[in-house]
Amino acid sequence: MKFGYFDDQNREYVITRPDTPLPWINYLGCQEYFGIISNTAGGYSFYRDARLRRLTRYRYNNAPWDCGGRYIYLRDNESGSFWSPSWQPTRHAAEDYSCRHGMGYTTIGSKFAGIEAYTRYFVPLDENLEIWQLTVSNRRATPARISVFASVEFCLWDAQDDATNFQRNYNIGEVEVNEGVLYHKTEYRERRNHFAFFACSEPTAGFDTARDAFLGPYRGWDNPAAVASGQLSNSIAHGWAPIGAHQVNLVLAAGETRQIIFVLGYQENPVDRKFDPPDSQTINKKTAEPVIAKYLGAKEADAAFGRLHEHWDRLLGIFQVDTPDLHTNRMVNIWNAYQCMATFNMSRSASSFESGIGRGLGFRDSNQDLLGFVHMVPARARERILDLASTQLDTGGAYHQYQPLTKRGNNDIGSGFNDDPHWLILGVAAYLKETGDWSILNELVPYDNKPGTEEPLYAHMGRSFGYTLERLGPHGLPLIGRADWNDCLNLNCFSDTPGNSFQTTTNRDGMVAESVFIAGLFVRASRELAAIACHQGHPDDAKRFLAAAEKMEQTVKEHGWDGEWFLRAYDSFGEKIGSKERDEGKIFIESNGFCVLAGIGLDDGRAAKALASVRERLATKHGLVVHQPAYTRYYLHLGEISSYPPGYKENAGVFCHVNPWVMIAETRLGHGDEAHDYYLRINPSAREEISEVHRCEPYVYAQMIAGKDAPTFGEAKNSWLTGTAAWNYYAITQWILGVRPTYGGLEIAPVIPAGWQGFTATRIFRGVKYKIAIERAGPGNNVALTVNGSPIEGNIVRPPTDGSNEISISAVLS
Ligand code: GLC
Ligand code: GLC
Repeated sequence: MKFGYFDDQNREYVITRPDTPLPWINYLGCQEYFGIISNTAGGYSFYRDARLRRLTRYRYNNAPWDCGGRYIYLRDNESGSFWSPSWQPTRHAAEDYSCRHGMGYTTIGSKFAGIEAYTRYFVPLDENLEIWQLTVSNRRATPARISVFASVEFCLWDAQDDATNFQRNYNIGEVEVNEGVLYHKTEYRERRNHFAFFACSEPTAGFDTARDAFLGPYRGWDNPAAVASGQLSNSIAHGWAPIGAHQVNLVLAAGETRQIIFVLGYQENPVDRKFDPPDSQTINKKTAEPVIAKYLGAKEADAAFGRLHEHWDRLLGIFQVDTPDLHTNRMVNIWNAYQCMATFNMSRSASSFESGIGRGLGFRDSNQDLLGFVHMVPARARERILDLASTQLDTGGAYHQYQPLTKRGNNDIGSGFNDDPHWLILGVAAYLKETGDWSILNELVPYDNKPGTEEPLYAHMGRSFGYTLERLGPHGLPLIGRADWNDCLNLNCFSDTPGNSFQTTTNRDGMVAESVFIAGLFVRASRELAAIACHQGHPDDAKRFLAAAEKMEQTVKEHGWDGEWFLRAYDSFGEKIGSKERDEGKIFIESNGFCVLAGIGLDDGRAAKALASVRERLATKHGLVVHQPAYTRYYLHLGEISSYPPGYKENAGVFCHVNPWVMIAETRLGHGDEAHDYYLRINPSAREEISEVHRCEPYVYAQMIAGKDAPTFGEAKNSWLTGTAAWNYYAITQWILGVRPTYGGLEIAPVIPAGWQGFTATRIFRGVKYKIAIERAGPGNNVALTVNGSPIEGNIVRPPTDGSNEISISAVLS
C-alpha cells in the first residue's frame, strides 16, 4: 500500500494522504540554519546545533507522535469554523491534501470548505531564516472572509534544559514586539547575543506571544481558543511559554488568490551592539530588519527559491544515471544523494529518531558519511576530515564522538572503539580519489586539539595504522576494545547493572577479545594507506603497510575462518563468536562482508564460500540480517547486542548500513545479479508498495528493518541519519554501476545484472564532465573502453591533459 508517489521530474515525493504510518519528514536548510518538517507541518528549527540553539519547541515521544510545528490555521469568519491546511494539528477531513517533499523544501496544503491553501517552506541559501510562503485561494463562487493564523512555539534555546529545568524556565521567557515583528529574546538580557524573530508580510490584525493566551487553559494546538474566537489578544509573554502567532484578516473575492509570507529566523548581534539604545535592555534590531524586509517580498522569496533549486541542480548533476531500473535511477539521481547531504549536515543529531540533544558527531560515522558526499561538497569534506583528525588522540585512537559547536572530543563517550582510527584512513582515501588534492596530507593537524602537537595528516594515518598493531590479541587479531563497528558487541563490558552504559562500562582488561571485522578493516585500510604512501614517495612506509596487511590476511585465514564463513570475533574467554560451534550467533554479516570487500579469500574460494553462507543464512526478503540465529536472552559476555529482543537493531535486525558491504563483496566476485538483488531488497523506492509494512519514508533509507525473528518483520526504524545512506550510494555507484574514482583517474568497472543491456551516466570528476555509455555484448564483466573514440588499455580513464572539460567514454561489457 502506498501513501503517495514519486514525482521524479520535479524531484519530489508527493504524499497524498496525511495519515502516513509515521510522520514522513524532510530537511530544510543546508548550511547553518536547519529544520525538520513532517508531512503535516510538524518539526522544529535550529541554528547549527540542534541542542544548544534550538529556535522552536518539539515534543519527542509524544502522542500523537509529531507534536510541535509550523502550524497555520484558517478560519472562515462567516461560519466560525477553523482548520489547518496541513491536516495537523486540527485533523479536518480536507480535500486534495498533498505534501510535496523536495530538495530542501516542503509544500503542504489542502482544500477545505472551498478554500485552498498551500504553504511552501524553505531556507534560502546563505541566510539564517526560513520562509513560509502561503498561497490561499477562494474556490467558492462567493466572496470569503477568512482569518489566517500562523504560529510557532519558541524553545528556550537549550533543548535539553528546555525539556527539564522548569523551575527556572517558567520565569525567563521574554519577547519584544516591534512593527508587527515578534522577537524571542529569552536570556538575551544576560549572556546570549542571539534572538529569534517571526514576521509577516501583511499588516496583521493581532498577535500573541503567550502560549496560554493563544491556546487557552487546558487546550492544545488542535483547538486554540484564540483561533476559535477569531481574534488574537496581543498578549506579551512573561515567563512560561513564549510563542509567536500572527493573525491576518482577508476578504477574498470568488476565485481570488493571495500570497502571505511568514519569516522565522535567527540573528546574532555583536556583543557591544546588543542593545539599542545601548544602555537599554531593548534588542538592537537594526541587524535583523533588512533581512526580514527582504524576504517578506514575494519576488525575493521566489528568487531565493530559484537559487535553492539551482543549488540542488548543481549538486545532483555531478552524477546522473539512466539504467533499466527505475528504483536505481531514482535513488542514485535524487534521493540517496540527497540523504547523503542530510547525513553530512546532521550527522546523527536531529531526525524523528534522534532527538537533537544526544549524539555529537561520530568519528566512525562521519568518516564513512564522506563516501556519500565527497563528490558533491569536496571543500567541506576536506574541512570535515581536518576537524575529525584534530580530535584524534596521540595513541592513534579516537574519541568516539565530538561536539560540532566546539569541535572537541566528547569525554562522556570516551574512546577505545578499536575500529575508529581506520575509518579516518578510508575517509581520506575517498577524498584523495575524488579530488586528487594531495595537499591535504601535508596539513598540520593537532592531536586532541592540543596546540603544539601538530603533525601532517599523513602522520595521523600512520598512527591509526600503528594503533591496531600495538593492540593485537592472543591470535594476532586486533583487540576489539569497547566495540568495533557493531557498537553493541561489547565483549569487555560485562554489565549486570541496569542503566549502565554499554558503551562506556568496562569490566575486563580487554587483552583477550578480538575482532575479525577489524582485521578485515585493517587489511583494507592498510592497503589504501600503502597506495597513498607510494604516491607520496614513501616506499618504505608502503612496504611496511603492505606487509602488515598481508600478515593480517594470513592471520584471518588461520584464526578467523570457521570452515564455511569468517568468524566474527573471539570473546574475552577466547571463545569463538560467529561460529558453527555456537547455538546462537553462528554467523555474522560484518566480518563476512568486510573481509571479502577487503579482498580476503578471493584467491582461495573462501570469499565465495562465505558469501554463499551469507545468502543461505542471513538473506531475507527484507534484506540481510546482522546474524543468525538471533540471541534469545541476555548474555553478560556479549553485552548490548543481546539486550535487544530478537530481530531488532543489532540483534539480528536488517542493519541496512552493512548490507552494502555484502553487495560490494558480491561485485568483487563478479556477481552483478546477486549484488543488485540485495540492493533492491532494501532500496526504499523498491519498498514503496509495502509502505504499510515498512512504515518509514519510502524515499530514504532507514538504519534498520526488523529482521525475521521480529514479530514486525519488515518494519523500518530510524530513517534518514544513518551510514546506510553513504554505503548504499557508494555500493551502487562505484561497485555495481562501477563508475569509480581512483587515485589515477576514473575507473569504469560495472558489475551489473546479466539482464541489463547497459546504461548511461554523466559524472563530473575533478572538473571534467564524463559522458559514459555502457553496453553489454556478453554476460561477463570484462570491459573494453573507448575514450573519445579511441580504444584504451585497462579501465582507468586518466584526466585530460589538453584542457578539455568533456570526455565521452563507451564501454563494452563481455
Ligand atoms: C549506529 C552507529 C554506528 C554503528 C552502528 C552499529 O548506526 O551510529 O556508529 O556502527 O550503529 O552499531
Ligand atoms: C546503541 C544502538 C546503536 C548505536 C549506539 C550509539 O548501542 O543500538 O545502533 O550505534 O547506541 O550510541
